[in-house]
Amino acid sequence: MVSGMKRVCMVCLGNICRSPTAEAIFRQLVALRLDADDWRIDSCGTGSWHVGKRPDPRALKALAANGYQTEHRARQLSSDDYQNFDWLLGMDGDNLANLHDRQPQSAPARIALLADYDPQGASEVGDPYYGGEEGFHEVFTLIRRCCERFLEQEYPL
Ligand code: 4NP
Repeated sequence: MVSGMKRVCMVCLGNICRSPTAEAIFRQLVALRLDADDWRIDSCGTGSWHVGKRPDPRALKALAANGYQTEHRARQLSSDDYQNFDWLLGMDGDNLANLHDRQPQSAPARIALLADYDPQGASEVGDPYYGGEEGFHEVFTLIRRCCERFLEQEYPL
């Protein structure tokens, strides 16, 4: 089913901490749905430094502690992403600004912050890269509740 595909890409800076975490969580939430086969879920980074790398070990650890896995390798946001996804969901204000700056004319993707869907009202999913491991657990919890709300609100069954 091509025309009915639902296509979501999570976007952060490096694509090694937040967005692969969001991708893994969102993928597992969708896997529980009756329409699970109709989704394309991915993630990317606005920066290129980590392209080809596996997620940060601290992100993998926080995921694993909650029963999630990912096979993702980092890739950079491309102009095709604006055609290939219905949603490009940034993690913080810098991601959002970059997403808008690079948007090709008349590209269909909707651009928003994942934290717009936080039921507890966080303004963004901040970068845990330079902090400790506990920051990765906090980011995991924040991302999970945002993903749940996004799915309920934008794609109710
Ligand atoms: P992410 O975290 O955007 O959540 O993947 C970061 C990863 C790497 C860097 C910054 C943020 N970095 O500066 O290398």
